[in-house]
Amino acid sequence: MNKIIVAIDGYSSCGKSTIAKALARYAGYTYVDTGAMYRAVGLYTLRHTLISKEDIISALPGIRIGFIWSDGAQHVTLNGEDVEAQIRTLEAGNCASRISQIKEVRAFLVAQQQAMGEAKGIVMDGRDIGTVVFPRAELKLFLTARPEVRAKRRFDELIEKGEKPVYEDVLADVNDRDYRDTHRAESPLRQADDAIVVDNSDLTPDQQMEIIIGLFDEKINGKQ
Ligand code: DC
Repeated sequence: MNKIIVAIDGYSSCGKSTIAKALARYAGYTYVDTGAMYRAVGLYTLRHTLISKEDIISALPGIRIGFIWSDGAQHVTLNGEDVEAQIRTLEAGNCASRISQIKEVRAFLVAQQQAMGEAKGIVMDGRDIGTVVFPRAELKLFLTARPEVRAKRRFDELIEKGEKPVYEDVLADVNDRDYRDTHRAESPLRQADDAIVVDNSDLTPDQQMEIIIGLFDEKINGKQ
């Protein structure tokens, strides 16, 4: 059976990674969380107090990002260290959003992402997968949900991690990040013309999965 590339883009906290992981498991494909790659670069710049664009660009050759399996889940590594927990904080997320605006950072990560997709059989999620990384992906999904719904989901995740978020701050953060992601000069988040939009505000995870598996099966059956 022909393997395809599935590109999943969309706003922050709209459940891209959950659905991408579930689809990868269903299809027997590799899952790549590109947000984790931007977060790992962001974490590196935080740890080394790199502020200027020039300093961040010069540090790139010393940043090695990888993925490993640990405790039954995919974890991102930064120069060999498992940093999965450290990249999931609000601070690392904000830093990722800032460094993702630098053209050279994007080129550095996009090249690695394209190499990962060479053999196809991949589900990749992010902001520019269907537009820049794999403009010829066979299946492109654009996930969305109302900002209040996404803020509540992120708020619950942070509580679960033992943080003490304030809902209004989380909502403001979601709105700020949406603005930055859609207005940056370099590869802004936008829906590819041939992407299928899935608004999951009022869908249960099972309902959403059913829709997405339906779209995947249709694509695969059409290719055989
Ligand atoms: O999906 P996430 O919240 O883990 O992503 C963190 C940040 O990285 C997000 O603010 C935007 C950026 N990002 C990007 O610019 N391009 C991608 N392909 C993935 C993430």
